[in-house]
Amino acid sequence: MRIPVDWQALFLRLPRVTTEKRRILTGITTSGTPHLGNYVGAIRPAIAASRRAGTESFYFLADYHALIKCDDAERIQRSTLEIAATWLACGLDPDKVFFYRQSDIPEIPELTWLLTCVTAKGLLNRAHAYKAAVDQNTQAGEDPDAGINAGLYMYPVLMAADILIFGAHEVPVGRDQIQHIEMARDIAQRFNHLYADDLDRRGTRFTLPEAKIEDNVATLPGLDGRKMSKSYNNTIPLWLPAKELEKAILGIVTDSRAPGEAKDADTSNIFAIYQAFASAEETAAMRQAFADGIGWGEAKRKLFERIDAELAAPRERYEALIAKPEVLEALLLAGANKARERSAPFVDSLRWAAGIRRLEARENIVIGMSESLKISISKKSEAPPQLKSYREADGKFYFKLTNGDGVVLLQSRAFDSPKDAGRLTAALIEAGDASSTVSELLLQSMPPGEAPVTATIVAALAQLKAEKLAKERDKKV
Ligand code: TRP
Repeated sequence: MRIPVDWQALFLRLPRVTTEKRRILTGITTSGTPHLGNYVGAIRPAIAASRRAGTESFYFLADYHALIKCDDAERIQRSTLEIAATWLACGLDPDKVFFYRQSDIPEIPELTWLLTCVTAKGLLNRAHAYKAAVDQNTQAGEDPDAGINAGLYMYPVLMAADILIFGAHEVPVGRDQIQHIEMARDIAQRFNHLYADDLDRRGTRFTLPEAKIEDNVATLPGLDGRKMSKSYNNTIPLWLPAKELEKAILGIVTDSRAPGEAKDADTSNIFAIYQAFASAEETAAMRQAFADGIGWGEAKRKLFERIDAELAAPRERYEALIAKPEVLEALLLAGANKARERSAPFVDSLRWAAGIRRLEARENIVIGMSESLKISISKKSEAPPQLKSYREADGKFYFKLTNGDGVVLLQSRAFDSPKDAGRLTAALIEAGDASSTVSELLLQSMPPGEAPVTATIVAALAQLKAEKLAKERDKKV
């Protein structure tokens, strides 16, 4: 006996294959000048990671975070310039990654507030950075909150918004930041739970991020042998001119062993820094030289030469970039536009989920030309939007509209017949950007009481219509 197979239904029920790339996100606070420790510990490994296949990388200049600890406006601007130039000079390719400035993404502070309202105050009380500041005050016999601004207190929420807004899977951080990632997960889970139904319908649940601890990247010792850090004032700036770099390296503390005396590589700062720049062979040769009693002056000269060999070319690029702030500015703005293609519709959805909606939303009127529309019109996303019909296990028919990144812009109600669903999808594409018609059609398409006619939806439909017309034209030719 032959059993008829409903191939279409079967196909539609297959689990969707996710082609989603792994998203990796890193923020850099713009309050200082990049030093060798930043380069070895963060910049170099992050740029190497951005070249890995199957990943999408997000790098941003966390200038709103900088305000928490720095009220020197010139310094923040200068640091933003230096850090942007540094990452580009070191090989970050802004066409392959998302590279932007936090303050150019207005959805980040917007999301921060949505998150603030689901964050337990007690959670923030337990944040290490805040607690350390309170402990210091208490020990000094002061009021516990003396000199602590609310920015420091809210820091973890802003950071959660940075991470959650782009659905990062991984956040490479130092150990001191693990707690912040855990807090981002906590806050995300709370929001997901509170608004579960709506978020699921739209496919806009927060992704829960994971901290990725980079254990195999070196922490460099600084001039005094302690970890190189701005707070110890023992750093070597990354972009010193060669002569000054050499001088700084000559100033690294060493013991008083004379040339000819055997030296212990494993306890030497010079060796530790050398190793962070050298190949395995070069490192082995240097270890031998230490055992053979290389003099400190000679070892430092070799160290300088090795570092300079790696930095000379990027240094030239850095100098060229830093001399053209207008070029960097344009580049950052372009990066923000690209990033906002994701953040604008996403935060639109979250706002809706939380009840920040147009009053007439039940009967729905298209929200005027919003930022997200301007962006989707001004910049073509690589993948076109899709309007797909499918059948669920409940036997009913549905359709949904996704943007080029797979973000669900609208999810239909259930239809008993595929014809009814099909009639509506065809009519929606036909309507394109005729927003009042779209509004009318969405009332028929959506679950009762819900028709989030956003500019993003209209823009996606307009794009679909344009594509359909172009195809028809091609056929005729
Ligand atoms: N807090 C991070 C630091 O001090 C900087 C930062 C801000 C960040 N937002 C972020 C890091 C988001 C990772 C993800 O180094």
